[in-house]
Amino acid sequence: MNNNVVRSGSNPTNFVRPHILITGSNGQVGSELVVLCREKNIPFVAYNSQQLDITDSDRVFAEIKKQQPTAVINAAAYTAVDNAEIELSKAYAVNKEGAKNLAIACEELNAVLVHISTDYVFDGEKDGPYLETDKTNPVSVYGASKLAGEREVVEFCSKYFIVRVSWVFGQYGNNFVKTMLGLAKNHTELKVVDDQFGAPTSADQIAEKLVTLVTSASINYGTYHLESNPGVTWYEFANKIFQYAHDAKIIKNIPRVHPIDSTHYPKPVMRPKNSKLASTSQFDLGTIDWEKGLEKLIR
Ligand SMILES: NC(=O)c1ccc[n+]([C@@H]2O[C@H](COP(=O)([O-])OP(=O)(O)OC[C@H]3O[C@@H](n4cnc5c(N)ncnc54)[C@H](OP(=O)(O)O)[C@@H]3O)[C@@H](O)[C@H]2O)c1
Repeated sequence: MNNNVVRSGSNPTNFVRPHILITGSNGQVGSELVVLCREKNIPFVAYNSQQLDITDSDRVFAEIKKQQPTAVINAAAYTAVDNAEIELSKAYAVNKEGAKNLAIACEELNAVLVHISTDYVFDGEKDGPYLETDKTNPVSVYGASKLAGEREVVEFCSKYFIVRVSWVFGQYGNNFVKTMLGLAKNHTELKVVDDQFGAPTSADQIAEKLVTLVTSASINYGTYHLESNPGVTWYEFANKIFQYAHDAKIIKNIPRVHPIDSTHYPKPVMRPKNSKLASTSQFDLGTIDWEKGLEKLIR
């Protein structure tokens, strides 16, 4: 065993006996998966990007063969939405080819693959939340590279769960919650986009759902939307963050937040106007209340 690799846990007996291999273990979701597996005493092995580069097909195959996991959870991804427009080949290498490498190895070595995807596979033009059955049409390189990865998983792996999540925040890594709390320290007024609608999801809540997928014997393979409620705009999300942070005495004063159109906050790439995910009953993983996740994070 590679000594740099995190491994922990004994074999629990009250559910499907998993042995989970986690990729991208330094990311927001990857870090929470490690924490959760430790807490629940689930046997796992976790690799950060230095320990296992998912674009290296030989290493991916060799490591999965060596570890013999029952499930691989792929939390590794190229997630820099704006940079992806210029680093196109890097985004595709990780999000498409990396997913393909894992899919092929899981198929040959008989492991379940849990692959995380994104709300950005949609164009945002739908009136209402996106279901698993809705047509994809990404408007960014990032979204297109993630969709390409989904297609590789479907093509090369028979035992897969693709789980689309949205607007991830948590204690590890950079995210909107941390940015807002940082800005609140020295700004009394802020402008936040109010014409993009979606749903935040906390990384620890995502980790819970992913681990449930691989420890439950009764969930069908396929593509799932992790539905988080209530839907909000970034402006509304910012106001909630400040409210909770103020209640928890993390910030003294709540900054005045002004809603703006995204045209007044130009970014290298368009975000979908609406990327709220919902699940059809056939693919129901149970909904997430992100406000609980936010409250927990802030406290
Ligand atoms: N963040 C969001 O708002 C959001 C929204 C919707 C969906 N998602 C999806 O949710 C999943 C988890 O996102 P996250 O927010 O946890 O992402 P994250 O914090 O950016 O973590 C991604 C991790 O992947 C690692 N990685 C990058 N390239 C790799 C490679 N070639 N081999 C192995 N590891 C590699 C990164 O390592 P380094 O740091 O060393 O590069 C990083 O630790 C991703 O599939 C993402 O597309 C995220």
